[in-house]
Amino acid sequence: MNALNGDEDKVAIVREEDIILARQHGRKLAEQIGVGGADLTLVATAISEVARNILKYAGKGEVRFSLVEKSGKRGVVVVAHDEGPGIADVKLAMQDGFSTGNSLGLGLPGARRLMDEFHIESALGKGTTVTMTKWASRR
Ligand SMILES: Nc1ncnc2c1ncn2[C@@H]1O[C@H](COP(=O)(O)OP(=O)(O)O)[C@@H](O)[C@H]1O
Ligand SMILES: [Mg+2]
Repeated sequence: MNALNGDEDKVAIVREEDIILARQHGRKLAEQIGVGGADLTLVATAISEVARNILKYAGKGEVRFSLVEKSGKRGVVVVAHDEGPGIADVKLAMQDGFSTGNSLGLGLPGARRLMDEFHIESALGKGTTVTMTKWASRR
């Protein structure tokens, strides 16, 4: 995958407002590369979920953004990274309704469904990295 623009943007997640900033930034990038109307909301929602998890479970972290191009198609890549406690059982965390935070447990599985590509890597005591991509349908 080739970056369209060399510089990678990021939004530090340390407080509630940062979730909104990350959400808006990702949405704007997706719009720039031609991600369509309804999909913009899906991207924004997925970003909100992973950013909220950073704040809630790791306390702080960051969301990085980059644009990619593959086979003539453009995409926005969102990487949510923290160096928090990590997830003991990632497979379990990816199931609908699993939550250690007394919430709905739909954030991670929801984000996976909302994006085109989704990858999560987590290690106890080291942190969590979620990488997800949305491709623009028009060229
Ligand atoms: N960044 C993270 N760091 C540590 N644990 C996390 C992180 N993100 C998710 N988790 C774990 O995965 C579970 C499922 O996350 P999610 O699907 O967003 O549901 P919810 O946030 O409602 O619990 C969380 O309850 C938590 O145990
Ligand atoms: Mg969540």
